[in-house]
Amino acid sequence: MASYFGSKPLIMAAVMLFAVVTMMDLISCVIAARQPSSGIGYSEEAMKARHQKWMAEHGRTYKDEAEKARRFEVFRENAAFIDRSNAAGGKKYRLATNEFTDVTHDEFMAMYTGFKPVPSGAKKLPGFKYENFTLSDDQQSVDWRQKGAVTGVKNQGQCSCCWAFSTVAAVEGIHEITTGQLVSLSEQQLLDCDNNDGNNGCGGGNMDKAFQYIIGTGGLTTEDAYPYTGAQGMCQSVQPAVTISDFQDVPSGDETALAVAVANQPVSVGIDGRSFQSYGGGVFTADSCGTDLTHAVTVVGYGVAQDGTLYWLLKNSWGTTWGEAGYMRLERGTGACGIGQQASYPSA
Ligand SMILES: *[C@@H]1O[C@H](CO)[C@@H](O)[C@H](O)[C@H]1NC(C)=O
Repeated sequence: MASYFGSKPLIMAAVMLFAVVTMMDLISCVIAARQPSSGIGYSEEAMKARHQKWMAEHGRTYKDEAEKARRFEVFRENAAFIDRSNAAGGKKYRLATNEFTDVTHDEFMAMYTGFKPVPSGAKKLPGFKYENFTLSDDQQSVDWRQKGAVTGVKNQGQCSCCWAFSTVAAVEGIHEITTGQLVSLSEQQLLDCDNNDGNNGCGGGNMDKAFQYIIGTGGLTTEDAYPYTGAQGMCQSVQPAVTISDFQDVPSGDETALAVAVANQPVSVGIDGRSFQSYGGGVFTADSCGTDLTHAVTVVGYGVAQDGTLYWLLKNSWGTTWGEAGYMRLERGTGACGIGQQASYPSA
């Protein structure tokens, strides 16, 4: 053998090259077959096509091929997680790709949430004005959207100011309920101006502090007058359009009290948003999340799903492509995702 090949070095080199290439192909096939995150039924090529289609749907572009390759890997991981969860069955909700499918979980939490809970043990506000209120038969389900007290779903973008959106939605709600006028109000005012109390624009904040700011400053101006930019800026002097007189906390951990409050008005809540990234619809359940209050949303209703599951209706601030047109239904009565631990509402 050696002498045969030795006499024909060119042929030997060609044969060896062929063998190496064949082995490499084999190895990469094995790696591809074992790749746990390539998505159910998705080859590398099919996943790339899925990413490409997703990019077109969400208008996503990347600065160069390296960034695209990096984002593809994240997309692949997330898509595989979504596919596995949906294929597993037995869930009341489904996951879906959305505008967050190419960001890692850590990036997601850093950019799109932003709730600073009141430290546990902090003094709770006394008084719950709905304490003697009982739900009537026609309050077994409530949807403030149908009553015209909820503005369209907004989008906080890459700024951890969920707290501002949660605050504004609650104020918009009580203002409509007491005056009959639905006015979209300014989150940007909270970002730029509410920063002497621990609230910090895209660095996170808390709704109770924001309510206190609104009372102190004389009100919020409109979204039109002070539009959202997605970044913290200089505080502009504003003409208040809507104000509140007071705010109260719902007794912590009491979902019956929360329902009574929500029957009367939209309510701001802290929530564990860590597993919300790929929520696509249905009733999200307690077994799929923890109870660390990392995010803030507004409860704009509650009801009973077709299969009998009780749910809360949450207005989020991640645009309309997330969840159920920007909303989430969350299991009710089980403390799911920490709901009810820190809930509060303004008074007109
Ligand atoms: C609830 O009822 C009790 C007993 O009648 C009363 O003392 C209390 O002031 C009521 N609370 C509110 C908020 O009206």
